Amino acid sequence: LSSSDGVLELDLETASTRIQVGGREASVQTFNGSLPGPTLRVAPGDTIRVTMTNRLEAPTNLHVHGLHVSPEGNGDNPFLSIGPGKSFDYEFILPEDHPPGTYWYHPHRHGYVADQVAAGLYGAILVEDLEPVPAARERVMVVSDLSLDGSGNLAEVNQMQQMMGREGEVVLVNGQVRPRLTAAPGERERWRIVNACPSRYLRLQLEGQRVQLLSRDLGRLPVPEETTEVLLTPGNRVELLVETTEGSAKLVTAPVSRGGMDAMMGGAMMGDNSAGGDEAIELLTLEVSGDRAQTPNPVPAGPALRDLRQEPVAARHTLDFAMGMGGGSAMMDGAGSGENTMMAFTINGREFDAARTDTAVAVGTVQEWTLTNSSPMDHPVHLHVWPMQVIEDDGRDVPEPRWQDVVNVPARRQVKVLIAFDDFPGRTVYHCHILDHEDQGMMGTVEAR
Ligand code: C2O
Ligand code: CU
Ligand code: CU
Repeated sequence: LSSSDGVLELDLETASTRIQVGGREASVQTFNGSLPGPTLRVAPGDTIRVTMTNRLEAPTNLHVHGLHVSPEGNGDNPFLSIGPGKSFDYEFILPEDHPPGTYWYHPHRHGYVADQVAAGLYGAILVEDLEPVPAARERVMVVSDLSLDGSGNLAEVNQMQQMMGREGEVVLVNGQVRPRLTAAPGERERWRIVNACPSRYLRLQLEGQRVQLLSRDLGRLPVPEETTEVLLTPGNRVELLVETTEGSAKLVTAPVSRGGMDAMMGGAMMGDNSAGGDEAIELLTLEVSGDRAQTPNPVPAGPALRDLRQEPVAARHTLDFAMGMGGGSAMMDGAGSGENTMMAFTINGREFDAARTDTAVAVGTVQEWTLTNSSPMDHPVHLHVWPMQVIEDDGRDVPEPRWQDVVNVPARRQVKVLIAFDDFPGRTVYHCHILDHEDQGMMGTVEAR
């Protein structure tokens, strides 16, 4: 769906839906009956108006992940709740200088996020380039995972899976199991990839093809970088340029170790308690054959990136992500899936409380945040509205400006980011994008005034 005259207007309806997944009838949840939901295409300066209607039995809401838009009122407000049978009118106004790139939308009602995203509620948002990137074609790939039981219903999730972050047994690309794509040799394709899995990290590899990284989360790199592998934690996006060579190439996700509980429990726990799996999973096949295409035009350089290290830092904050035994669940609101958790998922020692402001920032300032992880598992940290520039990753300086809106903080390590709170007063959230952790309390509030 594309905007016209600067406005994109649409209805989105969440509902339980029977669809085919990998040749099986499955009960999932969808936006407008499809998995993923419709792809929204807009330009900087556009307005998106969504009438969202909730046909689920649980409350929900809508979040536009990564978009730099107001968190207030009927904008990207994560505190809203749309009850079963209710509707809400959203309006998201993109600034004229909004970075182009691949973004996405998903529900964000605390306590239900992992269940609803795992069930199928997500879709892509594309913000158009300032200057087109020449490519034979563009492919949007929303990667997700889910587990079905014998009757095609979503499998129940146990406490251990919630603690580790659930990983679905089947990995889908646009709702399909291992789709086959075709191209001619010598073509350039642009792949816009979204990691919409609730917890699964993707380590993407495409053997036998030339791959360049064009964009990470938002904007684009000034010059595409040759790459053989990219890591996407939940919520991350990448855009890749694939220059095709004759043959059959598989896109796989290689195993990722994102820590586990074993270290924490002194090795005392039995069974599968480390996340990630240990085998590569095939996502799709690209078949390249036929007559050689004409050599594509070179990719024009993108604009230089703003380097926040050149700007004064007005304040510093530390956020510590921790998991502890004997978690209280007082903050959980009843039906949330984390109700009887035995772990506490905290930031600076506290579980999420929508009524409390955890971090206050001044509009118009640049801040340095140190994200520390005192737990034995990685946490992918996400801040709404304002993107982060990673300046120190695991003790090492990051030499070039690197913008992301989800940043992985490895187990027992720290990462430093700079954030420019240039505009948009209002309150919103930061959280772990392992959505089970978020639902169990690993989320805090930030207010820009
Ligand atoms: Cu993609 Cu607050 O989330
Ligand atoms: Cu988000
Ligand atoms: Cu986490």
